[in-house]
Amino acid sequence: MQVQVYEDPMRIAAVAVGHIETALQSGEGSPTLGVATGSSPGEVYALLRHRHAAGEFSLRGVSAVALDEYRGLPAGAAQRYRTVLSTELLGPERTGLRQEDLHVPDADAVDPQTAAMHFEGRIAALGGVDLQLLGLGANGHIGFNEPGTSFAARTHLTRLAESTRRANARFFDHELHRMPQYAMTQGLATILDAREIVLIAVGAGKAEAVRAMVQGPLTEDCPASILQEHPQVSVLLDPAAASQLNGTPRS
Ligand code: F6R
Repeated sequence: MQVQVYEDPMRIAAVAVGHIETALQSGEGSPTLGVATGSSPGEVYALLRHRHAAGEFSLRGVSAVALDEYRGLPAGAAQRYRTVLSTELLGPERTGLRQEDLHVPDADAVDPQTAAMHFEGRIAALGGVDLQLLGLGANGHIGFNEPGTSFAARTHLTRLAESTRRANARFFDHELHRMPQYAMTQGLATILDAREIVLIAVGAGKAEAVRAMVQGPLTEDCPASILQEHPQVSVLLDPAAASQLNGTPRS
């Protein structure tokens, strides 16, 4: 795990975009980018749009695979991750990503198990994920693999932890009752299959989870600790998120 700490949040985005550009160029065949939602990747997507507008980058011809999706929200709801990712990335006016190349788990499927298997099959048919972008939950989740999830889990429907529901209620005008109870998420084993992983965490609220992920034991109590087992992970932090680490280099 390569841990880097940046004072300037724009540097975090620039470094992440550098990784994305390199990974997408070096992948064989048509490349696949794993995309996260939430606050953490916002500046990365803004920079990708900026570079696309400048003619320096394009997601046209790239497949994008979402980490997760809420269950039970109306089609087109602003908080649905398909909507969020469409608004961030889709079309020639954003990053060039095509609608048909954005793959999101079908969290509302009547038969979630079959839908989850179908999603795994889709990732396999794309040749796997070249680079997976991740955020980190304050409880140590990645995707929506909450504490206690098996390291062997693949895509599945999951019940969201109450701490996650409270944290994400901010996207629902702080009305907790509107925040879904369930989501479909790539499993930890699915995430670990990505050839490269870039995780972004900022703010003091993530500091304890960062410490557990980087320097704690490998334990399902901190799902992100499994990233210690992956050969190519970059963890990009601001000083607040890094504040509980012992002896981290500054960049
Ligand atoms: C989002 C996701 C989650 C978030 C995490 C951090 O697709 O899978 O794991 O990355 O909850 O969220 P933010 O970035 O909003 O702090």
